[in-house]
Amino acid sequence: MSQVTLTINGQKVTVPAGSTVLDAARLLGLEIPTLCYDPMLSKPGACRMCIVEIPGMRNLPASCVTPVAEGMVVETHSEAVVEARKTIIELLLANHPNDCLTCERSGDCKLQQYAYEYGVREVGIQGEFHQYEIDESNPYILRDMNKCILCGKCVRVCAEIKGENVIDFAYRGFNTKIAPALDTKLAESACVYCNNCVSVCPVGALVDRRLAGKGRTWEVEQEPIICTFCEAGCNFNLLKKDGKVVGVAAAKAAPGRPMCLKGRLGLELIHNPNAAPAYLKKDGEFVEVPWAEALGLEGILAKLLEKGQKAE
Ligand code: FES
Repeated sequence: MSQVTLTINGQKVTVPAGSTVLDAARLLGLEIPTLCYDPMLSKPGACRMCIVEIPGMRNLPASCVTPVAEGMVVETHSEAVVEARKTIIELLLANHPNDCLTCERSGDCKLQQYAYEYGVREVGIQGEFHQYEIDESNPYILRDMNKCILCGKCVRVCAEIKGENVIDFAYRGFNTKIAPALDTKLAESACVYCNNCVSVCPVGALVDRRLAGKGRTWEVEQEPIICTFCEAGCNFNLLKKDGKVVGVAAAKAAPGRPMCLKGRLGLELIHNPNAAPAYLKKDGEFVEVPWAEALGLEGILAKLLEKGQKAE
């Protein structure tokens, strides 16, 4: 494969032809902010947060969709770039609830992070606010479209990773929103609550309902674990607060970022005092045994049960 050498912020880097400027910058360890980019999904180049300055190019191109070229010179944080990013953040905040104090994603929200990093304290742009009803129609995903920034990652993960196409962009202009077919509630759609959309949402628009109120990001310890409910062996993070398991989340770096119902529902067995006992036939008689033994699991369920019992 042919190689291309370019200069980013004064540093030379050589990458395979076809790479993007964002890929090359990340290879150098340079941080470029992104909202709609995800390495596992197609790249719409929609949010423009990843813009850079490249002399000779008109405007400020989005680095996530700009291919590298031999001899290219790139500035990732020039004055023009920083000003443009501030304006993008302001525009997003102009129609975004400023309820960070109570938002479940506070501390794990890219919009909050970039507003902080770029010093956007006040929004000088006044405009209309959406007043969407919060979708609480199902026990798994809380959808607050007032907080949606239309990055489209939830749409792409649903279509490209899960192949479900449950949600898509609906309406036009200011009224554009992400919605299931016919703009129904999620409970009335074909959603199977795999929670992949939640795992890619960069803001508080999609929240794992069962984790709501159980702890801030910085209070929750994450422990990698592999699910053994099926042969796929999905990567999860076990979420623990004060030593007690409070939830599971799809591991962000995992290929396909999978998370099916079984892996998540297994958690409910931990703290359920009314869980029916499990039985196995031993020496011709049914005897009560731990669920992990009954299911023959040494992976996620066994570990979850063990941790749950320890924490009780
Ligand atoms: Fe590049 Fe959104 S991250 S355009």
